[in-house]
Amino acid sequence: MLATATPSLLASRQRSDTIEAAIERDPRSFRILTGDRPTGALHLGHYFGTLQNRVRLQDAGVELLVLIADYQAITDRDASADLPRDVLGLVADYLAVGIDPARATIFAHSQVEALNQLLLPFLSLVSVAEIGRNPTVKDEVAAAGTAAVTGLMFSYPVHQAADILFCHANLVPVGKDQLPHLEIARTIARRFNERYSPAVPYFPEPEALLGAAPLLLGLDGTKMSKTRNNSVPLRATADQTAKLIAGARTDSERVISYEPDRRPEVGSLLLLAALCRDESPHAVAGRIGAGGAAALKSAVTEAVNDRFATVRARRAELQTDQGYLRDVLAAGTRRARSVAGETLDAVRRLMHCSY
Ligand code: TRP
Repeated sequence: MLATATPSLLASRQRSDTIEAAIERDPRSFRILTGDRPTGALHLGHYFGTLQNRVRLQDAGVELLVLIADYQAITDRDASADLPRDVLGLVADYLAVGIDPARATIFAHSQVEALNQLLLPFLSLVSVAEIGRNPTVKDEVAAAGTAAVTGLMFSYPVHQAADILFCHANLVPVGKDQLPHLEIARTIARRFNERYSPAVPYFPEPEALLGAAPLLLGLDGTKMSKTRNNSVPLRATADQTAKLIAGARTDSERVISYEPDRRPEVGSLLLLAALCRDESPHAVAGRIGAGGAAALKSAVTEAVNDRFATVRARRAELQTDQGYLRDVLAAGTRRARSVAGETLDAVRRLMHCSY
């Protein structure tokens, strides 16, 4: 795990601010690749943590590619028969929040052969020891033991480098947990350029764009996660939302106040309402005052349901048109294949594998 204020994290934050200014000046000089694993419904944490930011950048004129990481989903579990439903569900989530298929490219790993083939040359550019030092891989090895960690899990950060570099993305909006992956992608780009394309660097060294949004906790007070059943899915109905929030953990203090360190659960609920209403958590807390947990929960429920009513209606409509969702994915796949094919050709040429 990374400490919160390491020098490199601070540097990444400062760098992100500089990049935001550059985006404002010249959005077309940036290409973003970002992605999600199809392991469950996207939730409000994803919305405020990353989806909203993707839409903002797209609308600012930055080119956006969104990867559905279906091969990454099988690093630690078998491929499930639910994959088609989960993949199309992600497409519906993306479109409902405002990712525009006319401008953005949405595609799945498994459909883009040339992207995956980049894994081989890229694996030759990093050592086993370097991969083993990656915190995500290290955590997996510590939790499951080497014997249980699959080869795919072990090569996860290298595969992710292929995701990013296949389209020459120069910007990756990430949370701080993904920074070490990005570091491996940068190392691979640099080494490839040094070894095979020294005169004119072929790959850009992608940069992280750290989101500004503070982290929401799950409804049980632990880390919010798609697979822990502790979040409000984007697609939840108003009634389901009310039920989920009614079950959220709070504390027994009557007066509601925003003190995230001392009262993390209450703080996270206030933050959620505040994000939905574009105001400060202190303002939300002030209105509730001595209303206690019940008033807090109804305020949060109402804020979520108001904020997402339109997104949810759009999503429900999209869900009834699976053919359209498939068409969006097919168009994204075609475009990703063409980009990946060109990159693989160039990589092979530069590596003298061209006959
Ligand atoms: N690893 C990311 C996650 O678990 C998903 C992902 C796959 C990704 N490939 C990517 C993110 C490339 C950014 C860039 O959420």
